[in-house]
Amino acid sequence: MIRAKNLIYLLFLSFMISSSLFAQIIDGNPENGKILFGANCTACHYSGPEEMRKIGPGLHSHLLEKYTEDWLIKWIRNAPALTASGDPIALEASQYDPSQMQSFTYLSDTDIKDILSYVEQDPIDFEKSTGSSDNVVAGADQSYTDSSNKELDLNTIVTIIVILCGALVFLIFVNNALRKGLNIEEGFLKGIKRLLFMGTTIKILIVVFHIGILYLLVMGWQSLSKIGIRQNYQPDQPIEFSHKIHAGMNNIDCNYCHQSARHGKHAGIPSVNVCMNCHETIYEGTNSGTAEIQKIYDAVCWDPDLRQYITDTDECQPKAIEWIQIHSLPDLSYFNHSQHVVAGGLECQECHGEIEEMDVVYQKEKLTMGWCIECHRNTEINLDNAYYHLYDDLLEKHDVENLKVEHIGGLECAKCHY
Ligand code: HEC
Ligand code: HEC
Ligand code: HEC
Ligand code: HEC
Ligand code: HEC
Ligand code: HEC
Repeated sequence: MIRAKNLIYLLFLSFMISSSLFAQIIDGNPENGKILFGANCTACHYSGPEEMRKIGPGLHSHLLEKYTEDWLIKWIRNAPALTASGDPIALEASQYDPSQMQSFTYLSDTDIKDILSYVEQDPIDFEKSTGSSDNVVAGADQSYTDSSNKELDLNTIVTIIVILCGALVFLIFVNNALRKGLNIEEGFLKGIKRLLFMGTTIKILIVVFHIGILYLLVMGWQSLSKIGIRQNYQPDQPIEFSHKIHAGMNNIDCNYCHQSARHGKHAGIPSVNVCMNCHETIYEGTNSGTAEIQKIYDAVCWDPDLRQYITDTDECQPKAIEWIQIHSLPDLSYFNHSQHVVAGGLECQECHGEIEEMDVVYQKEKLTMGWCIECHRNTEINLDNAYYHLYDDLLEKHDVENLKVEHIGGLECAKCHY
């Protein structure tokens, strides 16, 4: 009996070891991969272990243990399409973050293999990976990445200790059982009893084992509760559109482009036609020359030399610009812009920061439930709005001088949750 058990254990152990040795090796040019990775992927990924989360998980040699090369090529080329096609592996991978990985249809198979060969071989150098957070706002994000890599070290150590304790307990158990000629038929409970009366060493090991497991559970819970918070998220956009140039230097009103913020739930992103109102005539920028503005023309099929739209669909087909969404609440919550901007009389900047000073927009606030509630507790409602008379009764009822949002129901679950 016991021999059979040992045998199974050994088989299991050798399977674990061999499966990690048999990971695929990608045939590609890591030098080129490094450049491509820097240009396309660093906005959302570190090169490092999975736990080194940016927007997506860290990318390293574990990818090739988890996925096949063919699948990775398909995913990296067009993750949204692969997910939409119902591919079960893609569906699972896409659960990682509410935001989606964009497509890279312009990368060839060779390009992608080069990238994979780079991330696979890149030695994990925390200094380098965290230092190169060029897309992240300086300062604020730094502490986050730093603490996460300290956690990582400690987690790895604890995991190793837990595994070692577990293995030792198991081995001592087997050893004792062998020595005392444990008769398996005597039952599980007796086995446990016997185990408990075995020397202090094993008791200490068991205690350490449980503390370790508890610690890992707590860490797991903590990292789960961080999911979905994207403070400081600042992706590169398909066109280098600068709010500093438009809303700042040229003083264009936010509502010119985000009209629906006043009228509805969403502020919305302007369509390319709105850009054309001005860029039919402004075809050169101070910083980027014609290169970035040309992308607007490509999207609407405008020929800047002839100054007319290209109507031949073989030559050009109009397409939307795929702006990457930055602010996003989970589906379970309800947020309405016009309620805050019109009824509440709040400025955009109170929730989005000084957008007119940003060349590239980033998410200034956490956008968590706690953030909403805190403002509702502290902010007086705007008595200048058209619904003012509705609040008269409330003023009397609460007997306070200044009504806060909480007094009109701003803390009720159902107001913010469907
Ligand atoms: C705009 C952000 C963004 C960019 C840019 C980006 N990714 Fe991703 N990537 C993600 C997210 C988010 C995920 C997690 C899956 C999900 O939630 O959709 C992911 C997942 C992945 C995965 C699967 C990892 C796993 O363990 O499941 C791979 C592989 C990957 N990305 C490779 C790349 C490569 C290579 C590039 C550059 C060519 C790249 N990504 C660029 C956001 C991005
Ligand atoms: C000329 C048009 C234009 C003007 C004016 C403008 N925006 Fe934008 N805004 C855009 C475009 C295009 C995007 C999407 C690209 C980006 O994120 O930079 C955007 C994105 C944003 C986002 C991020 C959206 C997301 O994905 O979560 C916020 C917030 C925002 N704008 C707020 C403002 C505020 C506040 C002002 C006024 C100070 C303003 N905008 C003025 C065009 C404009
Ligand atoms: C109300 C007028 C107006 C609208 C609408 C407008 N722009 Fe502009 N845009 C300008 C002005 C003015 C400049 C500055 C040109 C310069 O540098 O002399 C500019 C410059 C630019 C530049 C070049 C910046 C540089 O310095 O290189 C880009 C790219 C650009 N706009 C993209 C867009 C996009 C995309 C949209 C639509 C979402 C848009 N613009 C909408 C007025 C506008
Ligand atoms: C009370 C806080 C608050 C104020 C004030 C506010 N926003 Fe927002 N904004 C948010 C939140 C929260 C989201 C994310 C909404 C979601 O995911 O449903 C958001 C999202 C956006 C987006 C992304 C597109 C969308 O509609 O989801 C844009 C653009 C935007 N806001 C622009 C503006 C502009 C322009 C103003 C001022 C006229 C403004 N916001 C005022 C909190 C605010
Ligand atoms: C002022 C708006 C607001 C009110 C009031 C509010 N919530 Fe939320 N809640 C949110 C937002 C926004 C999120 C999503 C952001 C996040 O995940 O932190 C959220 C997330 C949650 C979640 C998901 C867990 C999580 O942290 O992601 C639960 C559960 C929840 N709320 C329960 C409640 C209950 C119960 C109440 C009433 C006591 C309540 N909420 C009142 C805005 C609100
Ligand atoms: C900067 C302050 C501020 C923040 C942050 C804020 N709100 Fe508000 N909210 C207000 C004000 C002010 C009002 C009152 C508007 C009015 O007078 O009707 C309001 C009202 C509301 C109401 C209507 C309450 C009622 O009883 O009529 C809802 C729902 C709401 N907010 C949801 C949210 C959610 C969800 C978030 C977070 C994503 C959020 N708010 C973040 C200031 C804020």
